[in-house]
Formats: sequence, structure tokens, C-alpha cells
Amino acid sequence: MIKGEDSFKKIIAHCKEYGFIFPSSEIYEGLSAVYDYGQNGAELKNNIRDYWWRSMVQYHENIVGLDTAIFMHPTVWKASGHVDAFKDPLIDNKDSKKRYRADVLIEDHIARLEDKITKEVSKASRRFGSTFDEKLFRETNPRVQASRKKIDDINRRFVPAMENGQLEDLRALIEELGIVCPVSGSRNWTDVRQFNLMFSTQMGSANDDASQVYLRPETAQGIFVNYLNVQKTGRKKLPFGIAQIGKAFRNEIIARQFIFRMREFEQMEMQFFVRPGQEKEWFEYWKEKRMKWHLALGIPPERFRIHTHDKLAHYANAAIDIEYDFPFGFKEIEGVHSRTDFDLGAHQKFSGKKLQYFDPETNESYVPYVVETSIGLDRMLLAVLSHAYREEKLDDGSERVVLNITPALAPVKIAVLPLVKKDGLPEKGREVFNILKHDFNCQYEDKDAIGRRYRRQDAIGTPYCITIDHETLENDTVTIRERDSMKQDRIPAENISRVVSGRIKLRPE
Ligand code: GAP
Repeated sequence: MIKGEDSFKKIIAHCKEYGFIFPSSEIYEGLSAVYDYGQNGAELKNNIRDYWWRSMVQYHENIVGLDTAIFMHPTVWKASGHVDAFKDPLIDNKDSKKRYRADVLIEDHIARLEDKITKEVSKASRRFGSTFDEKLFRETNPRVQASRKKIDDINRRFVPAMENGQLEDLRALIEELGIVCPVSGSRNWTDVRQFNLMFSTQMGSANDDASQVYLRPETAQGIFVNYLNVQKTGRKKLPFGIAQIGKAFRNEIIARQFIFRMREFEQMEMQFFVRPGQEKEWFEYWKEKRMKWHLALGIPPERFRIHTHDKLAHYANAAIDIEYDFPFGFKEIEGVHSRTDFDLGAHQKFSGKKLQYFDPETNESYVPYVVETSIGLDRMLLAVLSHAYREEKLDDGSERVVLNITPALAPVKIAVLPLVKKDGLPEKGREVFNILKHDFNCQYEDKDAIGRRYRRQDAIGTPYCITIDHETLENDTVTIRERDSMKQDRIPAENISRVVSGRIKLRPE
């Protein structure tokens, strides 16, 4: 794994060069913050999707899966709060004509002050060496204290302004802090306006308000509105969960960092319905369970951290983010939220339909509470790729780029490579390939020198290369080359499937 701005650029370039991710409609110069998955990206995405589905649905007797429509009745989004509250505060610079999120401009300003503190601390740490007392330094150094005070003063106004939608206060803060447009360098700002992130379109031919529908900004609401259908038809008893994987759409204003923040993306969400009062216990359960799921992929624990929300959304009584250490720093990859009875309660109110559960143990009817796990499939894929990308110097002085992807997730599991393109080796290679393709996604390649073919397979993360050579024709054995160690063993051709299956097994938590 490599880090920093340059390394991120290398990963993006690698994704394009090796058929993982392309800009959408590239021949028309692309479409901002929209991406297409290529031949290897689509396989990797399928494998991550499958790993999540198996661990959530197949491995839990009390969780079932759904696939709901992207279009939903417009009142769904009124009830969920998205029509009124799913908004970002925007501000324009009159000179550059660039648009920014007002909260992000202020957060960036705070981040620069935090950076100053970090620099002071590391400078002092280098100066004092082992005798350095960081806590004392932070509490007493005048420069650190001054920056800290500035941050606290900003937050005292910034947090309530965001919570209460006080747009004039955000604008006043931007002015007073002297925040300039990164493009024009000027402070010539417009007023701050709210901008809803939902995409809308018209359904049917009538061009009136009644036919306006939204592209869903999250998959969760498709689960909530089907709660009763699933509970009744599946004869489900609490606690039980409903999982769904699907596309979501958000008109992100600050769309940057490649597939980290997209306008069309995919979510893997699960809503777990519980008896009121038991939600905190289940919240802890899912927090731990989801962390184990990430760690089972072989990514070291230090690449993850948990951010506990201090300020909770009005519908939540506990929330955390699982953050991953991307090349551009720790950022949210998944959220676990205790959403109380907010969503079902709101749908009950807006639809006029009872969305309750009769609990045979307590003889009561109530609206269940919900604990949600919500992970972005694209962000997960970016995490897997960022962790996997390596540039290695080999013993013979040559270099290779290898994707050290957990074998179970690798787009191609086995490459079948005849040593030379003659002497009957391609025919034997095809024969081996035609057997293995029933068990694995395989590739057959006979063009170029064997070394170049190994490099190409390393670059897409293929864990095993099977080489067919002259000895194969004599005794039906092949060499199996392992991607990371590049070690080669000779095994009978009939054992390939068993050997590879044993090595790529990934049992979800
Ligand atoms: N139902 C809850 C929900 O949607 P969220 O924190 O807004 O919560 C959940 O989104 C996850 O979806 C995030 O943790 C992230 O992985 C992913 N996600 C959100 N917005 C995204 C975007 N614009 N591009 C890619 N992934 C996104």
C-alpha cells in the first residue's frame, strides 16, 4: 500500500490502464463524478457484493434480502425528511463563478488550524526527543493554545448555524475568517443558499408537480416501506433484518476523490428491526460485527478507526462511522446507526397504514426500533484497491506493480499460460482452461513472453498462474505460481481446482 496525493493519482491511472474503472462517457469528455466499471472492476465489485450478501443474508437465519425499485412514491421522501432536510449550504464566488459548500470552506479553514497545531507538536517532539510530554505541550504552548482557541471560537458559532440552518451566520463566518476562493483568491462571495441533493425527474407525460419523482438517495427507504410485507409474508419474529444492495443517487456539489464521492453509487444496507429498549445492545453487536467483516479481508486493523458521532441526527440515538485510511486520509466507509422508530413512525404517519409488530412475548403492539448498517460498495472497492496496490523492486533489479487483493475478491482467480505458443502447449492449455472455467473466473493467455504475462496478471491481482510446459505433455503436471511470493510449485493438473479452492476460501464473519 502506498500513501499521499501522488500515490492516489497512480491508483486512478492503474484503474484505467487495467480495465477497473473508466470515466463515464469518456469519448464525450466524461461526466463529472460518474464512473463506469470495466471488465476487472465489474468482477471485483461483484465479488465484494457477494461477500457482503453472503455474510449478511446467507449467514444470518434472521436476515432476508430485498431488491426494491429506484423510483418510489414521492411522499416517501417527504416522510423520510429528505425533501426538507437533505440539503447542503452553497455559496458562489462572484469572480471565479465557482460554487462551494459553505460548511466545507469553514471545515477546511478549521483543518488548516489543526494542521498548524500538528506541525508545532511534531517540531517540538523532534526537538525534545524522548523527554517530550505531548499532553503538557498542547496544554501550555502559546501558539498551540492560540490556534485551539480560534477553532473553539469558530465551532461555537459554526455548529449551531449548521444545526439550525442559519445561512446568514455561515456567510458571516466565511467573511470574518477571511476565507478566499481557492481559484480567484477573492472574498467576493454571494449569499449562502440551501441546495437539495436529490435528483428529480418527471414520471408520465404530465409536466406538473404531481408527477415529480426522485432517484432514491439511499436504498434504506425501500426496506422501510416493505417492512410489513416482509414481516408478514416471511412470518418473521423480532429481531430480524432486511438487507438490500442497490444504486443510490446524490447531486453532490463537491464531487471529488474519484469514486469516493460520486453522483451515482451503490449502497449495501441492512435494517435490523428490534424491540424498543434493545436497540443499544444491537447497535453494539452490529458495530463489532461489521468491523470483523472488514478485518476478515486481511486489511490490518490500523487502517480502520471508529468515529463516534457526538452530535446525533434528530432520528438517531447512537451512531458511528467506520473510517478507512485512504491515500487521502481517514474517511467514512460505513455507518452504523441506531435510528429509533423514526422511519417506520414517519411512514406510518404519512401513509396512514399501521406499521406495527405484535409481540407475542409481551402481548403488545409497537413500532419496532431499527439499527442500520450502511456501506458504500464503491468506497469499499476503493479501499480494497488502495490497500492492494504495491510497487515492488525485485531481487533481479526489475520492478513490478502488483495488486495484493485478497484472493477470494480477485477479479480473475487463475490464468492459464502455455509457456510457448507451439508444440501443442496452447491446445493443452485450452483443455486445462475449459475444465477450470466451470469453477473459477479464469483467463487463457498465450501472447508475449511468459514474464510479461505474469506481470499483466500481477497488475490485475490474479492470485494463481498455471503454466503449461513441455513436461505437462509428458506427465500431466503443471506449475502453479503464487502472485505475492512468486513461488512456483509443480502439481498434477487434476489437482489444480482443489488446491486453488482450498487457498482462496473466505468465510465471512
Ligand atoms: N441510509 C443511511 C445512509 O445513506 P450515508 O452515511 O449517507 O447513510 C452510507 O451513506 C454510505 O454510503 C457511506 O458510508 C458511504 O460509504 C456511501 N456513500 C454516501 N454518499 C456517497 C457518494 N456520494 N459516493 C459514494 N459513496 C457514498
